Amino acid sequence: MAATASLTLDPAFVVGPVRRRTFGSFVEHLGRCVYTGIHDPGHPTADEDGFRQDVIDLVKELGVGTVRYPGGNFVSGYRWEDGVGPVEERPRRLDLAWHSTDPNTVGVDEFMRWCEKAGIEPMMAVNLGTRGVQEALDILEYTNVVTGTHFADLRREHGREEPYRIGMWCLGNEMDGPWQIGHKTAEEYARLANETANAMRMVDPDLELVVCGSSSSSMPTFGSWEATVLAETYDKVDLVSAHAYYQEKNGDLASFLASAVDMDHFIDSVVATADYVRAVGKHSKRINISFDEWNVWYQDRVATDVAKGDDWPVAPRILEDQYNVADAVVVGSLLISLLRHTDRVHSASLAQLVNVIAPIMTEPGGRVWKQTTFHPFSLTAKHAQGEVLQVALNSPTHATAKFGEVTSLDAVATRDPETGAVSVFAVNRSAEGPLELTVSLEALGELSLEEALTYTSEDHTWSATADDDTSVLPTANDSAALTDGTLTVTLPPVSWSVLRLG
Ligand code: AHR
Repeated sequence: MAATASLTLDPAFVVGPVRRRTFGSFVEHLGRCVYTGIHDPGHPTADEDGFRQDVIDLVKELGVGTVRYPGGNFVSGYRWEDGVGPVEERPRRLDLAWHSTDPNTVGVDEFMRWCEKAGIEPMMAVNLGTRGVQEALDILEYTNVVTGTHFADLRREHGREEPYRIGMWCLGNEMDGPWQIGHKTAEEYARLANETANAMRMVDPDLELVVCGSSSSSMPTFGSWEATVLAETYDKVDLVSAHAYYQEKNGDLASFLASAVDMDHFIDSVVATADYVRAVGKHSKRINISFDEWNVWYQDRVATDVAKGDDWPVAPRILEDQYNVADAVVVGSLLISLLRHTDRVHSASLAQLVNVIAPIMTEPGGRVWKQTTFHPFSLTAKHAQGEVLQVALNSPTHATAKFGEVTSLDAVATRDPETGAVSVFAVNRSAEGPLELTVSLEALGELSLEEALTYTSEDHTWSATADDDTSVLPTANDSAALTDGTLTVTLPPVSWSVLRLG
């Protein structure tokens, strides 16, 4: 007999709004994300700026709201001035973070044009690794100041009259990580971030500033880093970043499928730390989270991927992870975690967007295709509307080596207060068997079942390729039925589902 689980929904239990910024992504100058990813002038669909229209179409279908740029580890050695002005005069530079050469044929102006075409809100990062306050002010002047000063007029000379008015800025990247160029102690970084934020706010007090938090919950400084950095910067910043990557290690599928347990713990810990600093400092505002790097990433493979010695390739094929169905289920479950924390997670970025640990893949000059992880992301971005509802969840548990007993079911729901439309996002994160799920909807009034889609495969190791990205797709779950305000549905093992009612 199949295991049973239940959810109860009530429109009174609202966590907060569904934020479009939860469905952000990330474009770094890394591997083929920019060059031959979003930008490929020789491609048959390339526009006058060299951007691939087939990629823009998929970015729109994915439902991405914000994109963080230009890194990542790359930004900590980046000179933004190299990427503006006549392309033929731009210098080629070593990218130390990824042992590559950056031809600088794409820079801030090109990226901003791409954002406008793709309907994306930019999230710009400044270099606080090899650079500091002055360069952050210079790029801000270039992008946001109207006219009459050196960098504002330079932008106009480069063909852009109106300022871009970029609102969201990251104060460096992963400055807690020893791998970061210009890595700092929490005290050193806190001081630099505070000075940079202070100066940037003199240009525009309304900027939204993201200060670096921890690169993962397993960093030795996790918790104390946030406490130290926020104690110094609290009044000057709005968000603190969080980064997390997950992978199946040593065949431990059960722990991998339960990765959202770590994400929940990460978010809850950062919220607690930020609120502690708020109490101690007698501050009134709250600091929220920008979860601006998250994904599945098989990091162990990087060591063999990245070039060494005298080899400094342009746009190498690195971090081109091929995702399987289980990876997609984990991506879907991480989105459930982000949504249920919508009261404190105000922004998030799937890292990354194209080719580099990405839902969208391209061949240079050739085909574009969807990885498995594309599907839960695009369906959640599309169907999470209105407000996030807290769900009362009852589920059997199963054992994991990393997290102990975890519930086999994880779920979240959204409801659009205008239309009454409800979406339930659910994963069966057990590989052991199906779950018979009952969802009590009585409190939501008259509803009908519009669609039940499930993403799964008997072979959870199946991956999409350029030749076949359609053999496993989200398909109608025919077991779903709605009777007298109760929805029943069977969730196969290792599956992600969206259940839509209206
Ligand atoms: O997304 C890949 C890398 O992961 C980023 O450059 C860095 O910020 C993180 O460690």
